[in-house]
Amino acid sequence: SDKELIARAHQRKKQLGKDLFIPGHHYQRDDVIQFADVTGDSLQLAQVSANNQHSSFIVFCGVHFMAETADILTNDGQSVLLPDLRAGCSMADMADKNQTVRAWEKLTAYYGDTIIPLTYVNSSAEIKAFVGNHGGATVTSSNAKEVLKWAFAQKKRILFLPDQHLGRNTAYELGIPLENMVVWNPILDVVEEEIPKDRVQMILWKGHCSVHENFRIEHVNQSREKEPDRKILVHPECSWEVTQAADLAGSTRFIIEQVSQAPAGTKWAIGTEMNLVKRLKKLYPDQSVESLNPEMCPCLTMNRIDLPHFVWTLDEIYNGKLPNVITVDKEISRAAKLAINRMMHV
Ligand code: 13P
Ligand code: SF4
Repeated sequence: SDKELIARAHQRKKQLGKDLFIPGHHYQRDDVIQFADVTGDSLQLAQVSANNQHSSFIVFCGVHFMAETADILTNDGQSVLLPDLRAGCSMADMADKNQTVRAWEKLTAYYGDTIIPLTYVNSSAEIKAFVGNHGGATVTSSNAKEVLKWAFAQKKRILFLPDQHLGRNTAYELGIPLENMVVWNPILDVVEEEIPKDRVQMILWKGHCSVHENFRIEHVNQSREKEPDRKILVHPECSWEVTQAADLAGSTRFIIEQVSQAPAGTKWAIGTEMNLVKRLKKLYPDQSVESLNPEMCPCLTMNRIDLPHFVWTLDEIYNGKLPNVITVDKEISRAAKLAINRMMHV
């Protein structure tokens, strides 16, 4: 039963002591996140992994690309374990290495040496390595603006992988007009709509988050009609239309900060993953917190890290086994680290 599993998780944590470290992303289930040593958004979790040099076992409660990043940033003697290997990310899967190589060849043949690649951390280690090897950096939703500014200081154009929405929203915020952005279709290896070559500043990879795309403009309109005083707060993985129509848009950390600092009685319609919206609702009962899409939007892969998988992982470690270890190839790790470190130093 859940009760037994919870008791065993507490017991294993105690038995493994400082050897065990559990980072947890804010989109994780409540029954798992209660055991996290640190909770955070993707940037915070990358930073805490980099700072932890002492725990032998890092049980990562998040998705595969985050566990890869943790492996890249920790020592050889530390093992990163993902309680369920099926916890991937559909957005990260939208950009693979071969597609990226083909895109880069075509784009640099056309635009010459005027492009710098950036990738959202929500991408595989291989894509991060490609970006690192081509002078680029990773970005997260909380530092995208700063990293884009850094990139534009070097090259006229950015190839932004794999989330078109974060790329478009961030560039627009920096004053780049939509008319200067094109979408790269990685299935057809073409730019979707040609515009005069000189104008192109953003080349947006045609990827998206299947969770955040569920928040649509009709939800914004419905909320405005029903309750004009309900503030609409969304993640920048939502589409440009939704982000523009919202009152506020920002990373997971920004969303949490906004709600935590608001006065009692504030009403919110939030466009982000369901576990976080539910948690905010519980944490701030003196405010009114709702999902922007009344149907609620779970990230199915984040949810794959459940109590049984989590406790099984701790049991295995306790019994001297290391299941589901995420190991990034050394050369990929070295190159990906270049991209991550450029981001950390912006
Ligand atoms: P952040 O944690 O950077 O806000 O990213 C959200 C997300 O979709 C993670 O998968
Ligand atoms: Fe990927 Fe979206 Fe889930 Fe984040 S919320 S892990 S971007 S599918």
